[in-house]
Amino acid sequence: MARTQWYKEMAVYQIWPRSFCDGNGDGIGDLWGVLSKLDYIKSLGVDAIWFSPLYPSPNADFGYDISDYKNIHPDYGDLELFQQVLEGAHARGLKVFMDLVVNHSSDEHPWFLESKKGKDNPFHDYYIWRPGKTVRGKRKPPNNWTSLFEGGAWEYDEGLDEYYLHLFAKKQPDLNMANPKVRREVKDILRFWLDLGVDGFREDVVTFIAKAEGLPDSFPPIPMANGMKYYSNLPAVHDYLREFKREVLDAYDCFTVGESPMTTPETALGYVTEGEEQVLDEMIGFSHMEADCLATDMIRRPFSLRKMKKAFSDWQQKLQGKAWPALYIENHDHPRIISRYGSEKYRVESGKMLAAMYLLQRGTPFIYQGQEIGMTNLRLPQVEQYPDVMTRNNVRLLSKFLPKKQVLRAVQEGARDNARTPVQWSAEPNAGFTTGTPWFTVNENYTTINAAAQEEDPNSLLNFYRRLLRFRKEHPVAIWGDYVELLPEDKHLYVYERNYAGSKLLVICSFTDEQIRFQAPTGIELSEKALVFANYEWNFVISNGFTTRPYELRVYLFETQTAENSEFGIRNSELKGNETDVPPTPETFVGDGALDVPPIPFASVGDGALDVPQDNSEFGIRNAELEDGETPSPSVGDDAPDVPLTPDASVGDGAPDVPPIPETLVGDGAPAVPLTPDASVGEGLAPPADPHEAPASPAPAEEDPSTRPEGFAQDDSAPPTPASEEDAP
Ligand code: GLC
Ligand code: CA
Repeated sequence: MARTQWYKEMAVYQIWPRSFCDGNGDGIGDLWGVLSKLDYIKSLGVDAIWFSPLYPSPNADFGYDISDYKNIHPDYGDLELFQQVLEGAHARGLKVFMDLVVNHSSDEHPWFLESKKGKDNPFHDYYIWRPGKTVRGKRKPPNNWTSLFEGGAWEYDEGLDEYYLHLFAKKQPDLNMANPKVRREVKDILRFWLDLGVDGFREDVVTFIAKAEGLPDSFPPIPMANGMKYYSNLPAVHDYLREFKREVLDAYDCFTVGESPMTTPETALGYVTEGEEQVLDEMIGFSHMEADCLATDMIRRPFSLRKMKKAFSDWQQKLQGKAWPALYIENHDHPRIISRYGSEKYRVESGKMLAAMYLLQRGTPFIYQGQEIGMTNLRLPQVEQYPDVMTRNNVRLLSKFLPKKQVLRAVQEGARDNARTPVQWSAEPNAGFTTGTPWFTVNENYTTINAAAQEEDPNSLLNFYRRLLRFRKEHPVAIWGDYVELLPEDKHLYVYERNYAGSKLLVICSFTDEQIRFQAPTGIELSEKALVFANYEWNFVISNGFTTRPYELRVYLFETQTAENSEFGIRNSELKGNETDVPPTPETFVGDGALDVPPIPFASVGDGALDVPQDNSEFGIRNAELEDGETPSPSVGDDAPDVPLTPDASVGDGAPDVPPIPETLVGDGAPAVPLTPDASVGEGLAPPADPHEAPASPAPAEEDPSTRPEGFAQDDSAPPTPASEEDAP
């Protein structure tokens, strides 16, 4: 656990290694590629990298099925190379977090191979093996649970005449955390990486690691994830996490963030409330990612801004003064956000709006690779071209209810493969991701959407992200301010304030291409001078409001002090008229003292992070006072139809109790998304000259070498050679 509050000021960049950058030309991203991009990552203004699994894995779930917890997948490099990356990151002031995946391992992990050998094998109890039931003379699994990824949750083993539990794919058997030997292994894994110099962990589906005594049947049965109430957020999860904390994590100044599907803020608070009982620094919730779907991304629904706002505000408000939120709008498990909550037509505008919308909330922002350049969903013409195990399962399930065309559309819009296309570095062949043949399709839009082009453009999304991250670091209100939502009922605008020690940040986000009149509330006077971010030029204010352009964003900063507005170089002390309305120092700061302590300068501030232009380049021009044609239009009472509200599966105990048959998808007659075959699939493209820098040698390490154990490469559990292909996707 982090000993001080450094993680509250940080921003994290997530790398899904297979698609980040290929350094050796085999078409698969790797740690050579990461080394070559450390300066780029640093230039964003983030403070840490979280690596999705880098470990040896048969890739049934692309790394989330681990066959050796103390090594690096040969596709990505080896432990020595990892150490170079770690040193290179540390030398740049970047921390490094690993993905801890201990709800399950791979079925090719030596533990599992041993556990299968016999009921008296010492590893047998590392997993959850049970005899089947006999129902009317027929052999049945031990209970009626269904997995999240692949049919029933039990797989039969003939040799043992027993079933093993897998909440995810068949090749991801669940570990038996109730076994103290398994917990000892987990503590060993934690120590191994911490002693190597790693700074913390993102803990995969950590709320699932305890299963209910007796593994009872679950009713009413549902086709996917049936039984969740018996394995989600059980009291024993707290016991296990407390043990990991006391016996290992407390000895290191490390950061932990848990992943918790279907978890409410109330439940999350049980883990992350600051104080004696805290077992994790932060928790990753899901509800804000369910505003255009029903429990899973693949069951599509029309986007509901109110649903999204409700989810964000729920977490913001309930954690305020008690715990520190984790903020994200993209990761490797969800389609690209612009294609979902924003607009591909207004890609840059909506990308900027979405960025500010979540980065300026209270919490630690996570940014997923490619998000910062506004990558979008892929549209492949065949469902078979999507390799993910979860996508395939969803295709199988949806095909029972929906015509082929609609299944394809659900995949194109909802598959997490959308976030797993190679990062678009440049307009070179294969987007500069590889000199070889990429393992997965490069989105054909790379010629226009790529990092190199955006480096050159001061108004690019990439540079906007840099400015936002820098602003956050330079303005305590953006980190420590209390969150207050305005206009919660509005169907088009998301508006919130942050307040801290006499500063007020006002964030106004339009989620529509329609013109909507925004009227500032009494007590706030919009002024050109207070504007710190916008995604259009010319930001007029008329009668203390404005009419929005598509996906418009405006962020205003009001300060009573004579602080400098660094984004524009304008002094806010000139602000007239509303000084007295600026709220006093927020109570949570003055009062409880437990949480929002005054900011401690973060180690990486001012350490040579890329210099972002100080001028008002966001707009190029100063915003004029007045515009002739702008007429106020009411934003209240518009008659846009409300999105029908169906029971939200994320409320309550976690088990969705409605069968996931999407009414909006069934027979809605909406035209299928136009099929755009991806030109970059397959061969036919000449290899590029050499779009990669040679793997850079890392900058000299500054950290204390004594934190590194000797013989770190010695791992007695030899990595098994993947033998069985039978279940490979
Ligand atoms: C988490 C991961 C996801 C993985 C699953 C099973 O949700 O983020 O990618 O498939 O756990 O490990
Ligand atoms: Ca490679």
